[in-house]
Amino acid sequence: MRCVIIHGSPRRGNTWNVLNMALDELRDIPNIEFDIIELGKIKLDTCIGCFNCIIKGEDRCPHNSDMKILRDKIEDAEVIIMTSPVYSMQVSGLLKNFIDHMSFKFHRPGYYKKKGLVIATTAGAGHKSATKYMKEVLEFWGINKVNSIAVAYRSKELTEKNIDYIKNEARKFKRELIKGDIPKSGFKQIIMYNAWRAMSSNDKSMEADYNYYKINGKAYYRDANVNKIKIIIGNLVYKVIKRG
Ligand SMILES: Cc1cc2nc3c(=O)[nH]c(=O)nc-3n(C[C@H](O)[C@H](O)[C@H](O)COP(=O)(O)O)c2cc1C
Repeated sequence: MRCVIIHGSPRRGNTWNVLNMALDELRDIPNIEFDIIELGKIKLDTCIGCFNCIIKGEDRCPHNSDMKILRDKIEDAEVIIMTSPVYSMQVSGLLKNFIDHMSFKFHRPGYYKKKGLVIATTAGAGHKSATKYMKEVLEFWGINKVNSIAVAYRSKELTEKNIDYIKNEARKFKRELIKGDIPKSGFKQIIMYNAWRAMSSNDKSMEADYNYYKINGKAYYRDANVNKIKIIIGNLVYKVIKRG
């Protein structure tokens, strides 16, 4: 099981410690492999807002030489762990810049088989909103099962309560991974999928989206774990938006 970690702190500090405590709980999952991307060690330029990834395709990103390596690692992984310290009540700029480079994934999600874990640490506040944001990002990328660990240090060392909390949440995530199932697709994922599907069929200038949705042509991915009611609603959303 390949697990890619997107570490959004520029250093190996509090967030790194919490990440490693969580990884220690996961290490004995058979065949698990960790690949840690430390964003602080990669000189990824700032997203210039060219829209190329969204409109023309992710390989047209001006920073594709760096991004392709990262995208391929994420694509190949069954599990994504995203971490960030809280800066000014939100995720770090380092992580946000990476997420902006992945904006095309909001349009063409596709990660319905993967599972995710998000981790945020803070001195005192903002840990819940930062994890909520990261969870939303992974859900927009199509992940249907995202766990979270939100830690307020409040002193130099972790309290016993925090240590228990981190271990418990990591064990919960481990149980999720051991299940080995494809998570049930949520309404949010089906509705977003069909909204983009309809909008791109109305606007062929959205080249990358148009080609992506044309290939499947259905209300969701064929091998996803999704019930019929959600598919019916997905098709309804598609028809309503398509008619305009
Ligand atoms: C630029 C900057 C902004 C920060 N903003 C906040 C904040 O808004 N709220 C807070 O409680 N802690 C804030 N902190 C403290 C960090 O969130 C906290 O120390 C975190 O655990 C650091 O993680 P790291 O050691 O992985 O970098 C900030 C720290 C830095 C460097």
